[in-house]
Amino acid sequence: MIAIRFEHVSKSYPRYGHLLAGLKFSLLRFSETFRAFKRDRFMALNDVSFEVKPGESLGLIGPNGSGKSTTLALIAGVLRPQVGNIEIRGRVSPLLELGAGFHPELTGRENIFLNGILLGLTRREILSKQDEIIAFSELEPFLDQPVRTYSSGMVARLGFSVAAHLDPEILLIDEVLSVGDLKFQAKCRQKLDDFKRRQVTIVLVSHSLGEVRGFCSRVVWLKSGQIVADGAPDAVVPLYEKAMA
Ligand SMILES: Nc1ncnc2c1ncn2[C@@H]1O[C@H](COP(=O)(O)OP(=O)(O)OP(=O)(O)O)[C@@H](O)[C@H]1O
Ligand SMILES: [Mg+2]
Repeated sequence: MIAIRFEHVSKSYPRYGHLLAGLKFSLLRFSETFRAFKRDRFMALNDVSFEVKPGESLGLIGPNGSGKSTTLALIAGVLRPQVGNIEIRGRVSPLLELGAGFHPELTGRENIFLNGILLGLTRREILSKQDEIIAFSELEPFLDQPVRTYSSGMVARLGFSVAAHLDPEILLIDEVLSVGDLKFQAKCRQKLDDFKRRQVTIVLVSHSLGEVRGFCSRVVWLKSGQIVADGAPDAVVPLYEKAMA
């Protein structure tokens, strides 16, 4: 049984600087420039393979730009790889960059609905969970204001509350826990422990190595789009710390 499987996955983005430089050049030598452009892509993930079993809590660590958010976006299906295979078993509840999935002009309440629909729930299902979501977020007085008026911590609260109450089977968390205040962070942590106990598969991206070590059952270390190490947190995190020092 697997929840997530990456087989030789590569994801590249165009290099914009080269494209612009190439445009001038391209007037003269189009086909050559085009070939160079196609070749010259930035590899955000380069031949990455790993599996996550149901109920595992995987930590993804690595320096800025190493491909962690790209990995989560691929799991969530927001991005597609150019090369390789990705298999996902279970309903994914993504909690990606701050506010991703929220519409700034809609109110908090409307965004709860929007998110629920996007995650494939029916109106009735969302209605039955709405009160719980609102109570957890502690944002009741602000729920009829547009989300663009929220502070970043408030957006994170709403995002976590929605993602956590829609019965995820696979929960993706990208560095959002550090945004809430201490009290909300503690609440989130408790909720994550609940999920872990209930065998929800979790992929957590965090620069807080203490948190990764304390929470995750396994850690993957990414560097320049490739896996450097994959194993027990007590083995991988110290290696990473040493490399970063
Ligand atoms: N939409 C995009 N277009 C072009 N390049 C991108 C795009 N998204 C990401 N990249 C590049 O891909 C690489 C990996 O980015 P990614 O966001 O996955 O890193 P990360 O490990 O999450 O970093 P951080 O710790 O800063 O969040 C980076 O070099 C980034 O510049
Ligand atoms: Mg990131």
